[in-house]
Amino acid sequence: SVFENPTAASLSVAHRIGDLIKEKQKNNSKAVLGLATGATPIGVYAELVRMHKEEGLSFKNVITFNLDEYYPMQPDAAQSYVSFMNDHLFDHIDIEKENVNIPDGTLKLEDIPAFCLAYEKKITEVGGLDIQILGIGRTGHIGFNEPGSAPNSGTRLVTLDDLTRRDAARDFGGKTFVPTKAITMGIGTIFKAREIILMAWNQKKASIIKKAVEGEISSEVPATYLQLSDHVEFILDKDAASLL
Ligand code: GLP
Repeated sequence: SVFENPTAASLSVAHRIGDLIKEKQKNNSKAVLGLATGATPIGVYAELVRMHKEEGLSFKNVITFNLDEYYPMQPDAAQSYVSFMNDHLFDHIDIEKENVNIPDGTLKLEDIPAFCLAYEKKITEVGGLDIQILGIGRTGHIGFNEPGSAPNSGTRLVTLDDLTRRDAARDFGGKTFVPTKAITMGIGTIFKAREIILMAWNQKKASIIKKAVEGEISSEVPATYLQLSDHVEFILDKDAASLL
């Protein structure tokens, strides 16, 4: 769907998440959310916080799994995705700490494969992701699945693209300070979600959105894999959709 502006689009995504949480509450079950970082979902999180504060929406029955984290990364660093999620969402709602899952950027290299398998297993054990929200990087990455990622890939350590590191340079005070690696859910992990929502706004996303939606399916643009799924929705503003 194409919305007039990012705010309208963000509200619609937040309200779908809110509806899912309330529906699960009625059945006394848990809502399992796959969450993303970056500028794109900030408005969604702001609306969820507003719904918590003003409408009493509770997150006690919510379990979250974040897509990715830089590696190496200390959780209390300003640039960590842990800090991002705390600042924009978790510090402002009543979610239980033990229900929050974010890949661990402090692991020893040799412990990463076991951690990644456990991350996948935990998602499965809680019943799988009900909704996965995604942004898109200018390389066509979803999560940190850069060009070359396999469609059946699982959670793993990856090397970041140069363009991705350049885009992150502002947050780190220069590209040389951006970690070269990250731990990310795989394309296969994302695909298992019952509902996938990819969001993009602004003109600078228009050309990658055109490739993702209309381009040939290829590992060169990992977001094109989403064309293969029947439970994906692209939520765009007019500018991001302008080349479609
Ligand atoms: C990072 C994140 C992605 C995100 C992308 C786009 O690379 N790992 O999940 O989609 O940035 O970021 P933004 O929303 O700021 O454009």
